[in-house]
Amino acid sequence: MFCADIVFLKICCSLRTDVTIGEKVMRALVFGGTSSIGLELALLLREKHDVWVAGRRGVKAAKHGLNFLPFYVDRENSVDESLNHLYAGMTDMHFDLIVCATGGFYRGGTADMLSAEEVSMTLLLGLELPIAITRHALLLQGTIPELIIVGSISQYRRRDDETVYSATKAGLNMYAKCLALDSRVGKMLMVAPAQMRKDLEDTSAKNLAKLDPRFVAAETIQAFREEFRYLALCIYRNPPHAEVIERSWAFLR
Ligand SMILES: NC(=O)c1ccc[n+]([C@@H]2O[C@H](COP(=O)([O-])OP(=O)(O)OC[C@H]3O[C@@H](n4cnc5c(N)ncnc54)[C@H](OP(=O)(O)O)[C@@H]3O)[C@@H](O)[C@H]2O)c1
Repeated sequence: MFCADIVFLKICCSLRTDVTIGEKVMRALVFGGTSSIGLELALLLREKHDVWVAGRRGVKAAKHGLNFLPFYVDRENSVDESLNHLYAGMTDMHFDLIVCATGGFYRGGTADMLSAEEVSMTLLLGLELPIAITRHALLLQGTIPELIIVGSISQYRRRDDETVYSATKAGLNMYAKCLALDSRVGKMLMVAPAQMRKDLEDTSAKNLAKLDPRFVAAETIQAFREEFRYLALCIYRNPPHAEVIERSWAFLR
């Protein structure tokens, strides 16, 4: 990150919006909040939070008036380095809610049909990154009061045509379940949607058969506003609906 970016971030971070619960400003950081499901979640979260989005392109964030943090993950730099850059300009590190919704780098096919780089990127974005995000948050702020992790229905289903993606998401699911045992992590929602539309303008039957990310976001936020400590939510299509598959009100043991 350039110096100018850091100065800009410091100025932004010192400006607080008036989204308050009592006297407290609730802040949310949405990784992958610049498009797709992450963006839709960010837009809904604005009702109760001062929302920051981290992603590669800030155009949509700017259009919606969201606070944008440039964030790019690849194999050239370590995930830790990317996160250190992201946080480098921030004077106030505390986020009440963290959302992990960065692209899952979906690639169909068996492992041997993918290049070594594709396998590596699937694991990087789908598993290493959420682990690094939560690790950094715990190191920097000591707690994660609220956490939303975007998984996929693929984490629960055996599929011969998406073996690496499914395995990655299954690993992420188990990581989330383990995090739910950690008393430093408060309320946590794991949402696992079926396939979603990438292009909201595409009205082809094939595209319309996929889930609208706005519907997924609305169901997720509605579920998140309920009382729980750990909640696993699946969002299916045909017909589009949400189902709670696990809920706990106390610390898991
Ligand atoms: N798409 C589906 O059908 C589907 C279904 C079930 C679950 N999911 C899950 O939903 C989440 C989002 O998936 P998606 O397919 O909708 O993702 P996406 O459109 O590819 O990207 C979503 C967000 O991740 C950011 N991102 C992507 N690659 C990145 C990178 N290398 N470094 C930093 N940021 C990056 C994007 O940034 P920019 O937009 O700024 O480039 C955007 O903010 C993933 O966890 C995925 O596994 C997706």
